[in-house]
Amino acid sequence: MNKAKIISTGSYVPENIVTNRQLEKKVDTSDEWIFERTGIRERRIALKGQAASDLAYEASKSAVKKAGIKAKDLDMIIVATVTGDMQFPSTACILQDRLGASNAAAFDIGAACSGFIYGLSIAENFIKSGAREKILLVGVEALSRYTDWEDRTTCVLFGDGAGAAIIGLSTDDSCIIATDIQSDGSMWDYIHVPAGGSRKPCSKETVDKRLHFIRMKGNETFKVAVKTLESIALETLEKNKLKPSQLSLLIPHQANLRIIQATAKRLGLPMEKVMINIEKYGNTSAASIPIALDEAVNTGRVRSGDYILLEAFGAGLTWGSALIKW
Ligand code: COA
Repeated sequence: MNKAKIISTGSYVPENIVTNRQLEKKVDTSDEWIFERTGIRERRIALKGQAASDLAYEASKSAVKKAGIKAKDLDMIIVATVTGDMQFPSTACILQDRLGASNAAAFDIGAACSGFIYGLSIAENFIKSGAREKILLVGVEALSRYTDWEDRTTCVLFGDGAGAAIIGLSTDDSCIIATDIQSDGSMWDYIHVPAGGSRKPCSKETVDKRLHFIRMKGNETFKVAVKTLESIALETLEKNKLKPSQLSLLIPHQANLRIIQATAKRLGLPMEKVMINIEKYGNTSAASIPIALDEAVNTGRVRSGDYILLEAFGAGLTWGSALIKW
């Protein structure tokens, strides 16, 4: 069986920074409350007219360049997003056109904040089976477009951005050791956008009732996130006969610093071994892990031979992990 590896990474965040102090002027909140409860100080918000594929394009260009390949070498494009440019076609097809990646099959997957891990699992299996050789995987969100800027319980949490990776055949020691993806649809209503789909198509009523914005049961979600992230991380390590102490870096989904700290504690990992950038970007959903991974690579926090663990949790509910030897 072939082995798959991450050949290169790239990321892009919009230039527009919105700080907690700025949000204090929009809703009844404070920098202190937001930072203490979430670890977030600021987030990036896409400029007017900037859509998911625009963010994805910048991140992808960087990953393709770093891999030393041409867009035409790509044979698959997977875009993980729940905030694509439009209902259809897929954002992956729009991105394919922008990149000129004419030899790729392109499609989107929707696993919310777990989207990048889900995509990595799909890409890994296509490479392992020998069906594809060079896959572009992008996690991208423009969550600001679905954020209710009058709801202080959600609007302080999210941000926009994109992260990309090229997945290909491994011919050396570095590889994706294992991916694990799981879900529990019984909690689908914990985080959702009620209208705009076939259940409640757009109407004057859905707009008036603000049903096109994110609704979230924050407390309930928090508890499930802590429990599932702890267990999937330990399970993945155990199955692959590794101890947490052998990890060089944990790259968790950046949803809430307290969730990240709880997972690290359970694994017995010092915080120096945990990649955190939530302070700068907030929760960018499917983009959070590839943005953090790209930052870790660029700042030398991931080196050849390191064991790293990626893990995510999100709407669905969905969760997943990826164990990698870099
Ligand atoms: N500013 C100030 N006060 C706020 C606020 C804000 N932005 N948002 C909520 N509050 C208030 C609440 O109204 C509540 O007030 P009350 O006690 O008078 O009713 C109080 O703060 C506590 O709210 P609570 O919801 O219990 O806070 P919390 O500690 O659970 O933190 C979240 C809220 C959303 C930060 C937290 O639950 C969370 O991160 N959940 C997980 C979300 C998540 O990960 N989602 C994405 C998954 S990928």
